[in-house]
Amino acid sequence: MTNPLTELLAERQAHIEAGATTPLPTHYAVNDLAAALHPETQYLRITKVVNHGTTAKSFYLAPNSAQGTQHLAYFQAGQYLSIQLMIGHSHVTRAYALRSAPQAALHDEYILTIKLVPNGFVTPYIFAHWQVGTLVTASAPMGQLTYNRFRDQHHVLGIAGGSGITPFYALASAVADGTENFDLTILYGSRKHDAILLGDDLAAIAANSDHVKLVNVLSDETYPGYEHGFINLAIMQKYADLAHTSIFVCGPGALSKFIASEVAPLHLPAGRLRQELSGQLPAPTPTKTTPATVQVTVKIQDTTQVVTANTKEPLIVALERAGIIVPAACRSGECGWCRARVISGDVNVPKIADHRRAADREFGYVHLCATFAKSDLTIEVPVHDLANQFG
Ligand code: FES
Repeated sequence: MTNPLTELLAERQAHIEAGATTPLPTHYAVNDLAAALHPETQYLRITKVVNHGTTAKSFYLAPNSAQGTQHLAYFQAGQYLSIQLMIGHSHVTRAYALRSAPQAALHDEYILTIKLVPNGFVTPYIFAHWQVGTLVTASAPMGQLTYNRFRDQHHVLGIAGGSGITPFYALASAVADGTENFDLTILYGSRKHDAILLGDDLAAIAANSDHVKLVNVLSDETYPGYEHGFINLAIMQKYADLAHTSIFVCGPGALSKFIASEVAPLHLPAGRLRQELSGQLPAPTPTKTTPATVQVTVKIQDTTQVVTANTKEPLIVALERAGIIVPAACRSGECGWCRARVISGDVNVPKIADHRRAADREFGYVHLCATFAKSDLTIEVPVHDLANQFG
C-alpha cells in the first residue's frame, strides 16, 4: 500500500528542484513603504511661523534630514502628531492635530496651528521658544478622527470648539481637493466672532467646494449669518439627518460631554459618535473629601519615587513635573500608551475619556492622562527611556 505522506514528500521535492535557483531577495520594498508611513520618530524643523492675532500660531514643519528624517510620513486627514518636549527637568508630550492637507505631506510640509493656553505648562513654552529653525521631535501621524467609508456614513457632521477646529480644517481641505470622498458639515463653536480661529481660510475652502459646509455658532454674541447659542441637538438636527450621519467631535472636554448627553436620547449605533479632546481633560467635580493634593508613590522597576499630585490635574502631569518619563501620545485616554497599574488608593476616571479594556478596569490598570487621584496612591509605571518614547 502506498503511503500518501511519502508521495507528498516526493512531490514537494520535485517542486523544489524545478524552482528557480535565484536567491531570495534580502530587501523588500514593502518594508521601506512601512517605514516611510510609520516612522518611529520624525525629526522636523520649523520653516515658517504665522501669527493669528496674539493667541494662536501656525508652525510650518519640514523634515530635518540632518537627524535622519528625509521625508514626512503621509497621514489621514484628522490625525495628530505627538510632540516631544523637554521643559526644564520635565519630559512632556502633547498631541496637536495636523492642520494641513495630507497632500502637503507629499511635498514635505506639515502645519500645526496651536492656541495659547495662558496659564498652561506647554503652550507658553512653545510660544516663547519655537521659531524658524527650531528642531522638533514628533511621532508618526496617529489618531482615529479620520473618515473610513466602511465604518462612517457618507455625511459627517464635524463639531469643533476652539482649537479643536484644526483636524476639521485638514478634513475640509482633503474633501475639497478630492483626497477624501464624503460630505462634511462643520459646526464650529466660538464665544465671539473675534475668537474664531482660521475662520476666513475655512470659509474660503467651504465656498469652493460643494461637499464642505461651514456653520459658525457663537455663544456670547449674535452675528449676521451665524447661529447663536451652544451647539445643541436642535442645531445639529437643523444641519444633518442624524440617522444617516457620523458625528466627529473635537474640542474641550466640556463640549464632548455636552454633545454626548445631547445625542444620548437618539441611541445612535456604536461608532456613530467619535470624539477627540483638545487640551487637557477637565477635572471631575471634587467631593467634599477630595484633598487638593495627594502623595503618589511611583514604582518603576526597582525604584520608588514619591511625588505630589494636584487632584485637579491628570496623574500624568504630576509625574512629568517630577521628571518621570511616561510614554504618551493622544493624552485623551484613547491610545493606551500611558497605561499604569494602581496598587492602592482611589482614583477617578472620567467616563468620556475611559477607553480602557474591561480586563484593565478589573485589574486596576488606568491611563494616566485620563486619571485623577482622589487619595494618596501607589502606582506601578512601566520603565521607559527617552530614546524609545515613540518606539
Ligand atoms: S496618552 Fe493616550 S491614553 Fe494616555
